[in-house]
Amino acid sequence: MKLVICPDAAAARAVAARVIARQIRRKPSSVLGLATGRTMEAIYQLLVREHAELGLDFSEVTTFNLDEYVGLPGSHEQSYRHYMRAHLFDRVNIRSEHAHVPDGAAANPDVEALAYEAAIVSSGGIDLQLLGLGENGHIGFNEPLSALRSRTRAVTLDRATREQNAGMFGGDPDCVPARALTMGTGTILDARETLMVVTGAAKADILARVVEGPVSAFVPGSALQLHERCLVVLDEAAASGL
Ligand code: GLP
Repeated sequence: MKLVICPDAAAARAVAARVIARQIRRKPSSVLGLATGRTMEAIYQLLVREHAELGLDFSEVTTFNLDEYVGLPGSHEQSYRHYMRAHLFDRVNIRSEHAHVPDGAAANPDVEALAYEAAIVSSGGIDLQLLGLGENGHIGFNEPLSALRSRTRAVTLDRATREQNAGMFGGDPDCVPARALTMGTGTILDARETLMVVTGAAKADILARVVEGPVSAFVPGSALQLHERCLVVLDEAAASGL
């Protein structure tokens, strides 16, 4: 793992956006793995600005999002498809058929998971996977005790995750869907490069376990220690437990 510790969250997000923009410029047909969550919003805003002001070109880019809630169609305001359209897809020149998010409304989530994994493989694999970190150590929706070699599948969300994401569902954890489709930890480790962005003091303890603790299914993010090209971008608050 290579760590970059920035003075504040804004600087960390700027570094992450620069890494993604550089990847697209270096390889215009890049396959990007994308993430959702509050941390990512400003990163996408920076990429949108880079597109508008400096012509960053998404026309040949393919994207695969990490995860989606089971039961929410892409038109639902709290779906990750909707999030991605609002923050990135509708604001840059990516082709809609190149912008993949698991289909939370699929009649059979297991079939959807297999098809999603196969689509990643047939795209040639992910060049750069963007990742946030859940307060319980999850990456994507790979909750603690997810197998380190897991593939894209339907999972049950931890209570802690539903509480962490309740803000988007009127504050009630019971309104957060109980299940999700997520790329597996093994799927994530197959990406040629990984870029994890973590900010804020609330994640300092779990980040220290991700970076300095043993590789363990109790802390799914720790699996990134096994990845040969993993860049972790932090602010000082998130790094304060190291
Ligand atoms: C959700 C997503 C994760 C993301 C996490 C962190 O649970 N499924 O991929 O890493 O949120 O979100 P935030 O950046 O809002 O803390």
